[in-house]
Amino acid sequence: MDGPHPISSHPTGLARLSAARSGPLSGIARAPGDKSISHRSLMLGALASGTTTVEGLLESDDVARTAAAMAAFGALVEHQGPGRWRIKGNGGFREPSDVIDCGNAGTAVRLIMGCAAGFPLTVSFTGDQSLRGRPMGRVLEPLARMGATWLGRDGGRLPLTLKGGNLRGIEYRLPVASAQVKSAVLLAGLHAEGGVTVIEPALSRDHTERMLSAFGVSLRFTPEGHGRRIALAPGQKLTGTHVAVPGDPSSAAFPLAAALVVSGSQVMVENVLLNPSRIGLFETLKEMGADLTISNRRDAGGEPVGDVTARFGALKGVEVPPERAPSMIDEYPVLAAIAAFAEGKTVMRGIGEMRVKESDRIALMARALTDNGVDVEEEPEGMIVRGTGVPPRGGASVTTHGDHRIAMSNLILGLGAEQSVTVDEPGMIATSFPSFVEMMRRLGAPIWDI
Ligand code: S3P
Repeated sequence: MDGPHPISSHPTGLARLSAARSGPLSGIARAPGDKSISHRSLMLGALASGTTTVEGLLESDDVARTAAAMAAFGALVEHQGPGRWRIKGNGGFREPSDVIDCGNAGTAVRLIMGCAAGFPLTVSFTGDQSLRGRPMGRVLEPLARMGATWLGRDGGRLPLTLKGGNLRGIEYRLPVASAQVKSAVLLAGLHAEGGVTVIEPALSRDHTERMLSAFGVSLRFTPEGHGRRIALAPGQKLTGTHVAVPGDPSSAAFPLAAALVVSGSQVMVENVLLNPSRIGLFETLKEMGADLTISNRRDAGGEPVGDVTARFGALKGVEVPPERAPSMIDEYPVLAAIAAFAEGKTVMRGIGEMRVKESDRIALMARALTDNGVDVEEEPEGMIVRGTGVPPRGGASVTTHGDHRIAMSNLILGLGAEQSVTVDEPGMIATSFPSFVEMMRRLGAPIWDI
């Protein structure tokens, strides 16, 4: 990548952000590009031969890490205008001259390890404090079975050094329904002798599979149990293409959630990705009685999208089916905040994975809700929120542990609660949603730096 990085980091100087009880929110917003698809477009563009153009790329700190990494592996990565990028791959990765620092981005490091393992390179990876604490063994284990080797701290935490090349194919049954692990094995499998087969126990987001097809790679799918078997035949090449990145449903969730909990609100978010493997939150909200409508359904670049409108109204607690978890795993923090306004209990179970995200999200949300006067029960792999149907007290100062979704979820809580809610480390919101505060203010939300 030439010159200074075009994605500027959000000012982290802000000490704290505070959300006060809001008057009705209204307006039309556009969700920022989907983070999962943005990462993948840069990676597949770098692995491919020829030119890839991307529109609607999420220009956030996490995605900037992937862009910088792809440049370090030898691809030409050019910023051409807002959301518009061009990547020229040369069909392979070269050894980077420095450590690949993935910052806060779990998707970046896990998928890039999969990409890099396919080549005879030695690459060191690190990340910020949160990422250095997250489990990498889940990706290293299948990569090691394929023939990659690694050296690092016990339990496979960053920093670590990975040595790839001469991979053999495997059939790998994922122990957890993780799109990151599935994707790492498929991406490594592109350069494995004999190809790879991945069996997922439940369907997880399928953006890697969809995008590999768009780049000319064919996969074979066979249903198996609640999940499926994905077979990638060896010797396939990727050819550069155009990727249109739809809006991120995980980010759209925040303005929509705000409209559901702030009296008198109506907000539309346009161009939201509606891939079935990502819309568990919308299904759950409908079951809670939320006034949520989807219009203008269409196809954009191989993914279903639509405009989603949320209107304030009474909500009731529900039991979220545990098998829905993969399709809304990043949305439980905001669901927990919404559940605080519903009447009755919202039971969220089978979500142990929440504990190994950017923070232990079960523990942090349980703590934050308790501090805001909400009745919440924490379980090893779940959480139960008991709402009373009236706005919670609020008033807490929330410790986010640098987790963007914990910060945004609690600000949404503050917009509907009786008293203001304050969050620390708001600069981290820029890992996924740099325009969050500006967008929320435009809809009428009183969110202020303090
Ligand atoms: C992602 C997969 C999910 C999700 C993460 C993005 C992806 O993680 O939580 O934010 O882009 O593949 P897991 O696959 O580890 O559950």
